[in-house]
Amino acid sequence: MPDYKPVFPDLIDASQVNSSVDPRPMDKGSAYSRTETVKETGGDPLVEFQGTTNPYIEYQSIDLLLSLQHPRSQGYDEMCFFVMGQAKELLFKGLHFELFNAREQMRQGNIGNTLVIMERASAYVDYIANSWNVLSTIKTEGFNQFRDYLSTASGQLSFMYRHVEFILGNKSRRLAAAHRNLPHIWPAMEDALNAPSLYDVIINAMHEAGYEVDQSALKRDWAEDYRPNASVRAAWLKVYQDTSAGNSYYQLAEALVALDEKISLYRWRHFTSVHKIIGYKPGTGGSAGVGWLRRVTEHKFFPELWDMRNDL
Ligand code: HEM
Repeated sequence: MPDYKPVFPDLIDASQVNSSVDPRPMDKGSAYSRTETVKETGGDPLVEFQGTTNPYIEYQSIDLLLSLQHPRSQGYDEMCFFVMGQAKELLFKGLHFELFNAREQMRQGNIGNTLVIMERASAYVDYIANSWNVLSTIKTEGFNQFRDYLSTASGQLSFMYRHVEFILGNKSRRLAAAHRNLPHIWPAMEDALNAPSLYDVIINAMHEAGYEVDQSALKRDWAEDYRPNASVRAAWLKVYQDTSAGNSYYQLAEALVALDEKISLYRWRHFTSVHKIIGYKPGTGGSAGVGWLRRVTEHKFFPELWDMRNDL
């Protein structure tokens, strides 16, 4: 940690930012309009705009987005923590979007699209795991300078992260309940808790494709955490009798297990970075801290795909 109080560059006059969360009205371009514009500019980028904004800002409400970083302490490292925390929330949102659509495509029986989507989901997880390269530059003394300002705030209260866990099948009524008092968050969280996960939908599709699975795995209380099932393991073993490129269920299984592996690496990096930063001190969110995070690293979303490796 640099040994001085940071200077916060004053870049935006927040009082002039449009704080609406609605998409801002914009013109739509076309190949024709772009060609005409280049004729007018002679090939140099546009630098003059009407009103008090420009299309880049309007497209993604960038001035609003960049007005939301407000560290609460004078600790140098808090800005890094703040930016990376928000960046990770966005990345969880992107990852969840892919997993949600992978489930939609599986429901519609389109394994090809599911595989394409899973490739991006995997790339997101790599990216999120690598965010620890930046976060782990925060040292213990730097973190201590702002930790008290978190009060009982903790990543375990990330509803976006919880959606990712739930769509992958790691359900927890208890952790979901942390969002029950939030009328703008809870309905979607409750739906996610009670909905079949991507893996549940895949197991159903596999059964319909002739890889027989017991009713206990096909119809259950989806809000319960997924428990390994012998018939699912047997079905995957059958799938692995044909490991050719043409067997889409085999391709799907390998995509799932690769995703599980990458998420394990993410959890492991969280655990080791946190160990380095706070040792075995309690977490801000009420957990035992590193001990709790260590237990979480052992979780597998698709247990049969790991267990069956002994039999291959
Ligand atoms: C660099 C400083 C960080 C430290 C010291 C830290 C520490 C912890 C600790 C101790 C826990 C256990 C729960 C508790 O708080 O009692 C936890 C959970 C969690 N943290 Fe962090 N964390 C850090 C950064 C982040 C960031 C930037 C994110 C991303 C938004 C994040 C996401 C999470 C999530 C999602 C959980 C819940 C894990 C689960 O449910 O499996 N953490 N963190």
